[in-house]
Amino acid sequence: MIPGILKFALVSWVVKAVANVKMCNKVYSVRGEARRILFGIAWPFLLNIFWEPKSISILRHQYWEYNEKIEIQNRRIAGRKANDESWLPLKTYNTSRNLFTKAAPASRSPITTGLYATALILSTGLFAVYYFDSRSALHRYVIMPVLRQTLDAESSHKLAVKVLRSGLGPKDPVTDDENLTFNLWGHQISNPVGLAAGFDKDGEAIDGLFDLGFSWVEIGSITPKPQPGNPKPRVFRLSEDNAIINRYGFPSQGHATVLSRIRARLPIFLAGEQETASLRDGSLLAVNLGKNKESPADSVEDFVAGVRTFGPYSDVLVVNVSSPNTPGLRGLQNKASLETLLTSVTQARDHLPISSINSQRPRLVLKIAPDLDQSQIEDIAGVIMGTGIDGVIVSNTTIQRPSHLKSASRTEIGGLSGSPIKHYTLTAVKTLRANLPSHIPIIGCGGISSGEDALEYARAGATMVQVYTSFGYDGVGTCRRIKDQIVEKLQKEGTTWAKIVEKAVDEFSLKDELPKVKPGEGTVNQLIEEAEHLNKLLDKFGSKMDSVNDRTIAAASQPML
Ligand SMILES: Cc1cc2nc3c(=O)[nH]c(=O)nc-3n(C[C@H](O)[C@H](O)[C@H](O)COP(=O)(O)O)c2cc1C
Repeated sequence: MIPGILKFALVSWVVKAVANVKMCNKVYSVRGEARRILFGIAWPFLLNIFWEPKSISILRHQYWEYNEKIEIQNRRIAGRKANDESWLPLKTYNTSRNLFTKAAPASRSPITTGLYATALILSTGLFAVYYFDSRSALHRYVIMPVLRQTLDAESSHKLAVKVLRSGLGPKDPVTDDENLTFNLWGHQISNPVGLAAGFDKDGEAIDGLFDLGFSWVEIGSITPKPQPGNPKPRVFRLSEDNAIINRYGFPSQGHATVLSRIRARLPIFLAGEQETASLRDGSLLAVNLGKNKESPADSVEDFVAGVRTFGPYSDVLVVNVSSPNTPGLRGLQNKASLETLLTSVTQARDHLPISSINSQRPRLVLKIAPDLDQSQIEDIAGVIMGTGIDGVIVSNTTIQRPSHLKSASRTEIGGLSGSPIKHYTLTAVKTLRANLPSHIPIIGCGGISSGEDALEYARAGATMVQVYTSFGYDGVGTCRRIKDQIVEKLQKEGTTWAKIVEKAVDEFSLKDELPKVKPGEGTVNQLIEEAEHLNKLLDKFGSKMDSVNDRTIAAASQPML
């Protein structure tokens, strides 16, 4: 016989699990699921400590009444009187009480019952708001300010990763508006808002982050060997300026640990064929590669190792040569060093086998700093075109300090991010766009905290955007809020994200890198997309033929019976 409270827990867990599956694209991990079960069992217990639901008390009373009747019958059968206390006091049934079998008081005042009912409705409502509405004011105006007042920047960062890792983080259950979709490298991406590197450095909360509605989750930067990063304190809030200064210096658990985490997600999802390594429709998983502090400044080995390790498990690999907190790293943006580096990583990528997850090789993207001048950006564009890099993220944090910064921490050493850097990054996007052909997408990142900011990047020719600092300040609803604001603007203007990007890219990109097509034959972009699509199909076909061949060879080598 299952005790009532366990039944309650079981039902509540099933409801929660069904809601998860239905609303969040089968978001499962073994550890996450174990936590969900524990939580499903724990929260009715917690509720029960404060309040015993009336319905459960009533059921228990009926159960005791039934027991009493049986007992009285037994006494009659044994020839005793029903109220014979010398046999066995009937009260025994009602006095074997513990926390979960305690009878409700015989009569409860309507006020108390009203208070309990209100408490239940409120707590259930708050839980529903917390869990199912990532954009709720609860997160932005209650949880985040409380965190800022009580924890330092690094501790709240760690806590946020833990909550999102646990499977108990909130969800964005709203399907993305179709005006947000766009095409990137042959994939139909569901919205243009991604999460930048540095939040989930060790790939602990990949699914928790996708649950918040990001279409691109970038984990890392990851270094080959584990390293602790710079001494603490190393992250500083500049609240008056909506900014952060960090000098983390790539704390990383290293390739092996992060790889095992990424691989642990796979068995749950791999029943069917996957479009992308994110294992979600319309989303991409990116891995940001860093280098160890003690590796030689101009060596490319750490990046090549990253490509080999994470290539088969990611949609995008980001070569990060722009963090200001690793000595010598930004020097790799110089023309000669960059040429060597990008040639090595593209070769390593091209030698990877086709991934068995998404039947592709990963895209390679370069992440640059916002502190480059016009001629440096022109050089970088030249190297990108010559080496076959697939895209660029503009940009990382800046070492500049605008004079208008107000916060006391503005003099800290490290990279500045957030609202004050938008001017620098947008300028860099425009300069780079003018030096890159239209088929190489730019991903805009820096100071984006609203739909209008994101659209500014799109109008400058960025195919999509990433956020970090605004997510750190506004919390889990940031992605949903920015998407809603974009949709509102798009509807007002009667256009779509893809159309805005296409117009800007056509207008501002470097021209004439490919022979012009005759009118009526489609745009260069369309031809490139078609070629990429064809390439993808051929890759898939090739890997299927390989597996058929393997099976044929295996069958042929079986002894004949
Ligand atoms: C605390 C913190 C840590 C970061 N760590 C990394 C990192 O490890 N690798 C990286 O490429 N960028 C890192 N970044 C840079 C962000 O990915 C992003 O490029 C930058 O913050 C600009 O975007 P934002 O203004 O929206 O924050 C970090 C940023 C912050 C604030």
